[in-house]
Amino acid sequence: MELIQKIEELKRKRNAIILAHNYQSCEVQEVADYVGDSLELSIKAAQTKADVILFCGVRFMAETASILSPEKIVLMPDKNSGCPLADMVDKKSLKNWQKKYPDSTTVAYVNTTAAVKAESDICCTSANADKVVSSLDNPQVLFVPDKHLAHWTAERVPHKKIIPYPGYCPVHMKILAEDVLRMKKKYPGAEVIVHAECSPSVIALSDRVLSTGGMCKYAMASKAKEFIVGTEVGIIHRLKKENPGKDFYPANEFAVCSDMKLITLEKIVTSLSEMKDEVKVPEKIRENARKPIERMLEIN
Ligand code: 13P
Ligand code: SF4
Repeated sequence: MELIQKIEELKRKRNAIILAHNYQSCEVQEVADYVGDSLELSIKAAQTKADVILFCGVRFMAETASILSPEKIVLMPDKNSGCPLADMVDKKSLKNWQKKYPDSTTVAYVNTTAAVKAESDICCTSANADKVVSSLDNPQVLFVPDKHLAHWTAERVPHKKIIPYPGYCPVHMKILAEDVLRMKKKYPGAEVIVHAECSPSVIALSDRVLSTGGMCKYAMASKAKEFIVGTEVGIIHRLKKENPGKDFYPANEFAVCSDMKLITLEKIVTSLSEMKDEVKVPEKIRENARKPIERMLEIN
């Protein structure tokens, strides 16, 4: 309680907004002004009038906020909160890969570093990957870095040739087809909703493939009373809170993103009182990384 009061006071003092990803722990989600998926959080970050954005998510999300709002102070409560998927491709390997397919358009999943975005044509998230790819004139697309989202998008947009970079999310890789089959047997009436970062064998067993924000919207709209959820377990808190009459079961309770979970209420207090750790993208990279993000936001 004391921590929550301190956070409220510091938020007022700093004119700060707290943005939290759907995978944050329940305590962190509860102190946030806004909880959402990558796309929703980028839009919020671009629109807010606050002076300070305290980003409870992983580094690429805070970087995106800083790229879109360079005049604001963007803080991360724990500077070590990275994304292993985003770190699977760097600028050098992307440039080498692009050389192999010179006539392609590069689509960068928002789960990439600012330096990788700066070398890409347009960004996407799991909420809009099919829309982004469909909007392109070029029939050949390099999709970086998540091979599973690339595979799912290729199925949805068959008139494009999508060449996937071989990256993957280690957290979503923990969710296996066997897990989904076991849970379906236990809860035969449940709908299976999974994230697009899951492997094709898990996706094949699902009823819906969605972003985390898409899962929240879908769970509210669906007539189903039970759901098997194939993504990071933090989202279960929000799903239960928003749908008191419905039950949500993680497909695999060990699908935990340890980077997301580095953020705690104590670290939020320290971050707002000491104004650390600030995320700043060097101006030259920022200028080039902004373009693919804005192109994505324009088509939403
Ligand atoms: P969303 O954009 O669906 O929230 O996904 C972000 C992410 O990191 C998934 O692992
Ligand atoms: Fe990155 Fe996977 Fe964690 Fe999402 S769940 S932030 S993709 S490591």
